[in-house]
Amino acid sequence: MNYDILIESANALLKDEPNNLSLLSNATAFINDHINDLNWVGFYLYNNGVLTLGPFQGKVACNKILPGKGVVGTSYVNNEVIVVKNVHEIENHIMCDANSMSEVVIPIRNGKEIYAIFDFDSPIENRFDDKLVQFLRQFAALIEKYIDFNAPLI
Ligand code: SME
Repeated sequence: MNYDILIESANALLKDEPNNLSLLSNATAFINDHINDLNWVGFYLYNNGVLTLGPFQGKVACNKILPGKGVVGTSYVNNEVIVVKNVHEIENHIMCDANSMSEVVIPIRNGKEIYAIFDFDSPIENRFDDKLVQFLRQFAALIEKYIDFNAPLI
C-alpha cells in the first residue's frame, strides 16, 4: 500500500469540500474504500459533554459515549491517539461490533479543544501497524486542515 499516494488523493478529495457533514462522510468512505480489513470507521463528535455518533461506515454503533468510557472516551479525556492490539485484553472497551479485534482512535483537534474522535476498528488482531497508524494520523491532520470548525455540521 502506497500511503503517500493515498494522502495525495485524500487531499484532493477533502480540500474543496465546504460542507462539514459531506467532508466527514466522504472521509469515512475513503478510508473504508482504500484500507483493507476494517469493519468500522467513523467519528464521535464532541458536544455538550458527550461524544455522539457522527458519519461512519460499518454496522450500527453505540450512539453516545461519555468522556472516560471505552477507548473513544479515554482518547478524549487523555487527548491522545490510542492503538489497541487486542480489544479483548483491555477492560475499558465498548464492544459495538462483536467482530472487532483491534482498534485505533485519533483525536481531531480544533486548537486545544477536541472536536471529534476518529475511530477505526478491524476484525484482525493487531491490524494497525506503525505505518498504517502514521497514515491515519496524516489523514486526520487533513481533516483538521480542511474542516470549518466555525461552521455547523450542515
Ligand atoms: N470500541 C469503542 C466504541 C465505538 S465502536 O468501536 C464503533 C470504544 O471502546 O470506545
